[in-house]
Amino acid sequence: MASHSTLATVTDSVMLFADLPAQVTLPNGALLEVSALSQADSEALHAIELAAHSHPMSASLFEGNLQRYHAVGLKDQNGWIGFALISLVVGEAELLDFVVAPQQQGRGIGSAFLLWLIDELSDKAERFYLEVRASNEPAIQLYGNAGFVEMGIRENYYPAKNGREDAILMAMELLD
Ligand SMILES: CC(C)(COP(=O)(O)OP(=O)(O)OC[C@H]1O[C@@H](n2cnc3c(N)ncnc32)[C@H](O)[C@@H]1OP(=O)(O)O)[C@@H](O)C(=O)NCCC(=O)NCCS
Repeated sequence: MASHSTLATVTDSVMLFADLPAQVTLPNGALLEVSALSQADSEALHAIELAAHSHPMSASLFEGNLQRYHAVGLKDQNGWIGFALISLVVGEAELLDFVVAPQQQGRGIGSAFLLWLIDELSDKAERFYLEVRASNEPAIQLYGNAGFVEMGIRENYYPAKNGREDAILMAMELLD
C-alpha cells in the first residue's frame, strides 16, 4: 500500500459512501455489514492493521488517516474484521490501505469487499489505483482477479525486512 506519511492530501469532499451501512455477501451466502469508520474505531482497527501488515502504520498515523481519507469497515457479530482507506482526488480513487484480519483471511472476504468497493466507486471516480509490495502474492492475486492491471514498478519504494522492496503500481478503469 501507499507509504503516504504525514503529508496532507487534498481529498474530494464527495461523500464516497453516502448509503452506509450496506451489506456484502460472501461466497457461502453469509452477510457482512459495511459501515463508515470514525475516530472511536481507531484502536480496534489499528489492532487489525498491526496483526495483518508486515510494516504497519503507527497508531498516530493511522488515526490521522482515518480523518484524512474515506474509511469504511466490515464487521461481523463480534466486531470489525476488515477495513479500507481510500482517497479521491480529481476523479482518481486510490486504495491506500486494505486489510482483512488474519484469522478471517482466505474465506473470500477480501474479494467480496473489494468488488463492493469497485461497484461503489464506479460512478464517483474514473480510475482506481493502488500500490502493493512486490512480495505480497495474496494481494496481487486478489487485485488481478478483481480487474486491476500492473502499470509499473516503483523501485525500492517500501522499507522491508532486509533493506527495501519494490512497489507494483496497479490500476483499473472504472466504468459507470
Ligand atoms: C490481501 C488480503 C486483504 C486478502 O484478503 P482475504 O480475505 O484473505 O482474500 P480472499 O479470501 O478473498 O482471497 C482472494 C484471493 O487472494 C489470493 N489469496 C488469498 N490468500 C492467499 C494466500 N495465502 N496465498 C496466495 N494467494 C492468496 C487468492 O487468489 C484468493 O482468490 P481465490 O480464493 O479465488 O484463490 C489479506 O490477505 C490481507 O489483509 N493481507 C494483509 C494486508 C495486506 O497485505 N493488504 C493489502 C495491501 S496492498
